Amino acid sequence: MKRKVELVVKSVDVIALDTFEMTLVNKYVAKTAIPGQFLHLLVDGHTLRRPISIANVDRNNNEITILFKIVGDGTKQLAAYKPGMSIDALGPSGNGFSYEGKLNSVLLVGGGIGIPPLYNLGKTLKKKGIKVTAVLGFQSKEHVFYEANFRELGKTYVVTNDGTYGYRGFVTSVMDQIEDFDTYYSCGPIPMLKAVTKQLQDHSGYISLEERMGCGVGACFACVIPTDSHGGYKKICKDGPVFAADEVVL
Ligand code: FES
Repeated sequence: MKRKVELVVKSVDVIALDTFEMTLVNKYVAKTAIPGQFLHLLVDGHTLRRPISIANVDRNNNEITILFKIVGDGTKQLAAYKPGMSIDALGPSGNGFSYEGKLNSVLLVGGGIGIPPLYNLGKTLKKKGIKVTAVLGFQSKEHVFYEANFRELGKTYVVTNDGTYGYRGFVTSVMDQIEDFDTYYSCGPIPMLKAVTKQLQDHSGYISLEERMGCGVGACFACVIPTDSHGGYKKICKDGPVFAADEVVL
């Protein structure tokens, strides 16, 4: 359920080039958010809300962590928020990842700023006793973040496009090395998701298309995406951001 909330900033830290980790306090969001959901933040002085996915939740301390990259004025301003300031948001929003049924092992495949929601998911699945393997793709060494966090969850492969850290290439370059798994979850740029879903077409999987969102409330139509052979379109902000990998046409 989406509702208007007020979050109080607890901390803001730089964790990679132009990439920030912000911890926020709000009891309702911390108690109700599920992996794959996002917050729809209103940065002071801006009229459009920004969808930013939830990277971590600490239910005991009512804390929520978001990670974001500076890509324009709004995110630049967000990075300048100080502890104690409050942010208006709608959320938690979106449908979240599905992990019903019997799962023994999963593969998480994330690219860049698509990685954060996979951390919250991986933590949740690990607590359930599910084996987690992660493949994280970044442009280059200075963009790498949360490697240690994912290593705590399970075997983690880091790939950089230019080879300055970890494996060289794309996330798909290392996926052949991974032992079998029951299902996969992926989030990142559309070209990466296309390559991942193609390579893993024999597996069931879920993809989060959060990077394609604009207004986040069904008003701008920036996020419509064709569905499978039955035709029709879905709105990422209202019907997603998570879809079964074979449900939408990328
Ligand atoms: Fe604007 Fe979905 S993001 S309609």
